[in-house]
Amino acid sequence: MTRQRNPALSARLPPALAGGSIEATALPGAGGIALYLLNADYPQWELDGDAVRALMDKPLYWVFCWAAGQVLASRILANPQWVAGRRVLDFGAGSGVVAIAAARAGAREVVACDLDPDALAACAENAALNGVSLELADDFAAVEGPVDLVTAADVLYDRANLPWLDRLCERAPAVLLGDSRVRDFSHPSFRRLGEWEASTWPDLDESPAFRRVSLYAAGMLD
Ligand SMILES: C[S@@+](CC[C@H](N)C(=O)[O-])C[C@H]1O[C@@H](n2cnc3c(N)ncnc32)[C@H](O)[C@@H]1O
Repeated sequence: MTRQRNPALSARLPPALAGGSIEATALPGAGGIALYLLNADYPQWELDGDAVRALMDKPLYWVFCWAAGQVLASRILANPQWVAGRRVLDFGAGSGVVAIAAARAGAREVVACDLDPDALAACAENAALNGVSLELADDFAAVEGPVDLVTAADVLYDRANLPWLDRLCERAPAVLLGDSRVRDFSHPSFRRLGEWEASTWPDLDESPAFRRVSLYAAGMLD
Protein backbone atom coordinates (compact mmCIF):
# COMPACT_ATOMS: atom_id res chain seq x y z
CA MET A 1 0.00 0.00 0.00
CA THR A 2 1.33 3.48 -0.90
CA ARG A 3 2.08 5.51 2.22
CA GLN A 4 -0.36 8.41 2.53
CA ARG A 5 1.18 11.11 4.71
CA ASN A 6 -0.94 13.87 6.29
CA PRO A 7 1.21 17.05 6.18
CA ALA A 8 -1.11 19.15 8.41
CA LEU A 9 -1.13 16.58 11.22
CA SER A 10 2.57 15.76 10.77
CA ALA A 11 3.32 19.45 11.34
CA ARG A 12 1.69 19.12 14.79
CA LEU A 13 4.34 16.63 15.96
CA PRO A 14 6.67 18.18 18.56
CA PRO A 15 10.44 18.57 17.91
CA ALA A 16 11.02 15.41 20.01
CA LEU A 17 9.33 13.41 17.24
CA ALA A 18 10.65 15.45 14.33
CA GLY A 19 11.61 12.29 12.41
CA GLY A 20 8.08 10.89 12.59
CA SER A 21 5.20 11.32 10.26
CA ILE A 22 1.42 10.92 10.49
CA GLU A 23 0.21 8.43 7.89
CA ALA A 24 -3.05 6.72 6.94
CA THR A 25 -3.15 3.30 8.60
CA ALA A 26 -5.73 0.54 8.15
CA LEU A 27 -6.54 -0.60 11.69
CA PRO A 28 -6.03 -4.32 12.26
CA GLY A 29 -9.06 -4.75 14.52
CA ALA A 30 -11.74 -2.15 13.77
CA GLY A 31 -13.78 -3.19 10.75
CA GLY A 32 -12.29 -1.21 7.89
CA ILE A 33 -11.66 2.06 9.76
CA ALA A 34 -8.44 3.81 8.69
CA LEU A 35 -6.78 6.50 10.79
CA TYR A 36 -3.95 8.98 10.45
CA LEU A 37 -1.47 7.75 13.08
CA LEU A 38 2.27 7.85 13.82
CA ASN A 39 4.12 5.82 11.19
CA ALA A 40 4.34 2.21 12.38
CA ASP A 41 8.08 1.98 11.58
CA TYR A 42 8.93 5.00 13.77
CA PRO A 43 11.97 3.91 15.83
CA GLN A 44 10.46 4.61 19.28
CA TRP A 45 13.29 2.77 21.03
CA GLU A 46 15.79 5.38 19.75
CA LEU A 47 14.15 8.25 21.68
CA ASP A 48 16.64 9.81 24.08
CA GLY A 49 15.86 10.85 27.68
CA ASP A 50 14.99 14.47 26.79
CA ALA A 51 12.58 13.34 24.10
CA VAL A 52 10.86 10.87 26.45
CA ARG A 53 10.52 13.60 29.12
CA ALA A 54 9.06 16.03 26.53
CA LEU A 55 6.49 13.40 25.54
CA MET A 56 5.62 12.66 29.18
CA ASP A 57 4.98 16.40 29.72
CA LYS A 58 2.56 16.59 26.80
CA PRO A 59 1.44 13.09 25.80
CA LEU A 60 0.51 12.63 22.15
CA TYR A 61 -2.49 10.38 22.69
CA TRP A 62 -3.97 11.16 19.26
CA VAL A 63 -1.02 9.66 17.32
CA PHE A 64 -2.02 6.18 18.57
CA CYS A 65 -5.23 4.19 18.45
CA TRP A 66 -5.42 2.71 21.95
CA ALA A 67 -6.38 -0.93 22.50
CA ALA A 68 -9.57 0.04 24.35
CA GLY A 69 -10.57 2.35 21.49
CA GLN A 70 -10.13 -0.42 18.95
CA VAL A 71 -12.23 -2.85 20.98
CA LEU A 72 -15.02 -0.35 21.70
CA ALA A 73 -15.09 0.69 18.01
CA SER A 74 -15.28 -2.90 16.80
CA ARG A 75 -18.02 -3.83 19.32
CA ILE A 76 -20.08 -0.79 18.22
CA LEU A 77 -19.72 -1.85 14.57
CA ALA A 78 -20.84 -5.37 15.54
CA ASN A 79 -23.82 -3.99 17.55
CA PRO A 80 -25.11 -1.01 15.54
CA GLN A 81 -28.38 -1.04 17.53
CA TRP A 82 -26.42 0.51 20.43
CA VAL A 83 -26.00 3.77 18.48
CA ALA A 84 -28.44 3.75 15.53
CA GLY A 85 -30.50 6.95 15.43
CA ARG A 86 -28.91 8.24 18.64
CA ARG A 87 -26.91 11.34 19.54
CA VAL A 88 -23.56 10.05 20.82
CA LEU A 89 -20.94 11.98 22.80
CA ASP A 90 -17.45 10.40 22.77
CA PHE A 91 -15.43 11.59 25.77
CA GLY A 92 -11.61 11.57 25.35
CA ALA A 93 -11.89 10.96 21.61
CA GLY A 94 -8.13 11.03 20.79
CA SER A 95 -7.84 9.98 17.13
CA GLY A 96 -11.65 9.75 16.94
CA VAL A 97 -11.78 5.98 16.42
CA VAL A 98 -14.86 5.37 18.61
CA ALA A 99 -16.70 8.44 17.32
CA ILE A 100 -16.06 7.33 13.72
CA ALA A 101 -17.34 3.81 14.50
CA ALA A 102 -20.52 5.30 16.01
CA ALA A 103 -21.08 7.48 12.93
CA ARG A 104 -20.50 4.51 10.62
CA ALA A 105 -22.89 2.36 12.64
CA GLY A 106 -25.75 4.82 12.10
CA ALA A 107 -25.67 7.34 14.96
CA ARG A 108 -27.81 10.39 14.19
CA GLU A 109 -25.08 12.76 15.36
CA VAL A 110 -21.70 12.20 17.02
CA VAL A 111 -19.81 14.73 19.12
CA ALA A 112 -16.09 13.98 19.56
CA CYS A 113 -14.87 15.64 22.76
CA ASP A 114 -11.22 16.08 23.70
CA LEU A 115 -9.43 18.81 25.64
CA ASP A 116 -6.38 18.54 23.34
CA PRO A 117 -6.73 20.76 20.23
CA ASP A 118 -4.34 18.47 18.31
CA ALA A 119 -6.67 15.53 19.04
CA LEU A 120 -9.64 17.51 17.69
CA ALA A 121 -7.66 18.30 14.52
CA ALA A 122 -6.92 14.57 14.19
CA CYS A 123 -10.63 13.75 14.70
CA ALA A 124 -11.55 16.13 11.86
CA GLU A 125 -8.95 14.66 9.47
CA ASN A 126 -9.84 11.08 10.43
CA ALA A 127 -13.56 11.74 9.99
CA ALA A 128 -12.87 13.00 6.45
CA LEU A 129 -10.64 9.98 5.75
CA ASN A 130 -13.57 7.69 6.67
CA GLY A 131 -16.27 9.72 4.94
CA VAL A 132 -18.23 10.58 8.10
CA SER A 133 -19.03 13.83 9.82
CA LEU A 134 -18.34 14.61 13.50
CA GLU A 135 -19.12 17.58 15.72
CA LEU A 136 -16.09 18.65 17.76
CA ALA A 137 -16.01 19.86 21.37
CA ASP A 138 -13.12 20.77 23.66
CA ASP A 139 -15.17 20.92 26.87
CA PHE A 140 -17.49 18.11 27.97
CA ALA A 141 -19.48 20.45 30.23
CA ALA A 142 -20.13 22.90 27.39
CA VAL A 143 -21.78 20.38 25.04
CA GLU A 144 -25.40 21.51 24.75
CA GLY A 145 -28.57 19.53 24.22
CA PRO A 146 -29.66 16.01 25.09
CA VAL A 147 -27.25 13.12 24.56
CA ASP A 148 -28.52 9.53 24.24
CA LEU A 149 -25.22 7.68 24.74
CA VAL A 150 -21.79 8.62 26.11
CA THR A 151 -18.82 6.55 24.95
CA ALA A 152 -15.30 6.61 26.42
CA ALA A 153 -12.23 4.45 25.72
CA ASP A 154 -8.95 4.41 27.64
CA VAL A 155 -9.72 7.49 29.72
CA LEU A 156 -8.83 5.80 33.05
CA TYR A 157 -5.07 5.71 32.31
CA ASP A 158 -4.84 8.06 35.30
CA ARG A 159 -6.85 6.99 38.38
CA ALA A 160 -7.49 10.69 39.01
CA ASN A 161 -10.00 10.36 36.15
CA LEU A 162 -12.16 7.83 38.05
CA PRO A 163 -14.59 10.54 39.29
CA TRP A 164 -15.43 11.13 35.62
CA LEU A 165 -17.47 7.91 35.68
CA ASP A 166 -20.18 9.66 37.70
CA ARG A 167 -20.18 12.65 35.37
CA LEU A 168 -20.50 10.43 32.29
CA CYS A 169 -23.47 8.62 33.87
CA GLU A 170 -25.15 11.93 34.76
CA ARG A 171 -24.86 13.19 31.16
CA ALA A 172 -26.83 10.46 29.33
CA PRO A 173 -29.16 7.51 30.00
CA ALA A 174 -26.49 5.07 28.73
CA VAL A 175 -22.69 4.90 28.82
CA LEU A 176 -20.26 2.52 27.09
CA LEU A 177 -16.74 2.35 28.49
CA GLY A 178 -13.68 0.46 27.19
CA ASP A 179 -10.78 0.03 29.59
CA SER A 180 -7.63 -2.05 30.00
CA ARG A 181 -5.97 -0.06 32.79
CA VAL A 182 -8.08 -0.50 35.95
CA ARG A 183 -7.99 -4.15 37.01
CA ASP A 184 -10.08 -3.58 40.15
CA PHE A 185 -12.81 -1.69 38.26
CA SER A 186 -15.92 -1.34 40.38
CA HIS A 187 -18.74 1.16 39.99
CA PRO A 188 -22.37 0.62 41.03
CA SER A 189 -23.79 1.82 37.68
CA PHE A 190 -21.60 -0.28 35.38
CA ARG A 191 -21.85 -3.95 34.39
CA ARG A 192 -19.11 -5.82 32.49
CA LEU A 193 -20.04 -6.98 28.98
CA GLY A 194 -16.89 -9.03 28.34
CA GLU A 195 -13.19 -8.97 27.59
CA TRP A 196 -11.36 -8.76 24.24
CA GLU A 197 -7.68 -8.70 23.16
CA ALA A 198 -6.16 -5.83 21.19
CA SER A 199 -2.86 -3.94 20.89
CA THR A 200 -2.44 -0.20 20.80
CA TRP A 201 -1.58 0.78 17.22
CA PRO A 202 1.19 1.45 16.24
CA ASP A 203 2.16 -1.26 18.70
CA LEU A 204 3.73 0.23 21.85
CA ASP A 205 4.67 -3.23 23.12
CA GLU A 206 2.69 -2.59 26.29
CA SER A 207 2.47 -5.24 29.00
CA PRO A 208 0.09 -8.14 28.16
CA ALA A 209 -2.30 -6.95 30.89
CA PHE A 210 -2.99 -3.74 28.93
CA ARG A 211 -3.98 -5.80 25.86
CA ARG A 212 -6.95 -7.29 27.73
CA VAL A 213 -9.74 -4.77 27.23
CA SER A 214 -12.96 -4.91 29.24
CA LEU A 215 -16.15 -3.33 28.03
CA TYR A 216 -18.58 -1.91 30.60
CA ALA A 217 -22.08 -0.53 30.14
CA ALA A 218 -24.30 1.66 32.30
CA GLY A 219 -27.99 2.16 31.62
CA MET A 220 -30.14 0.70 28.84
CA LEU A 221 -28.29 -0.04 25.59
CA ASP A 222 -30.89 -1.61 23.28
C1 LIG B 1 -5.48 7.37 25.94
S1 LIG B 1 -6.37 8.54 24.97
C2 LIG B 1 -7.68 7.55 24.29
C3 LIG B 1 -8.12 8.05 22.95
C4 LIG B 1 -9.19 7.22 22.24
N1 LIG B 1 -10.42 7.17 23.01
C5 LIG B 1 -8.69 5.82 21.94
O1 LIG B 1 -9.14 4.88 22.62
O2 LIG B 1 -7.83 5.65 21.06
C6 LIG B 1 -7.26 9.51 26.21
C7 LIG B 1 -7.80 10.83 25.64
O3 LIG B 1 -8.61 11.44 26.65
C8 LIG B 1 -8.42 12.85 26.56
N2 LIG B 1 -8.87 13.47 27.82
C9 LIG B 1 -8.36 13.32 29.06
N3 LIG B 1 -9.03 14.06 29.96
C10 LIG B 1 -10.03 14.69 29.27
C11 LIG B 1 -11.06 15.62 29.63
N4 LIG B 1 -11.22 16.04 30.89
N5 LIG B 1 -11.89 16.08 28.66
C12 LIG B 1 -11.74 15.65 27.39
N6 LIG B 1 -10.78 14.79 26.97
C13 LIG B 1 -9.93 14.32 27.90
C14 LIG B 1 -6.94 12.98 26.26
O4 LIG B 1 -6.61 14.27 25.73
C15 LIG B 1 -6.72 11.85 25.27
O5 LIG B 1 -6.87 12.27 23.93
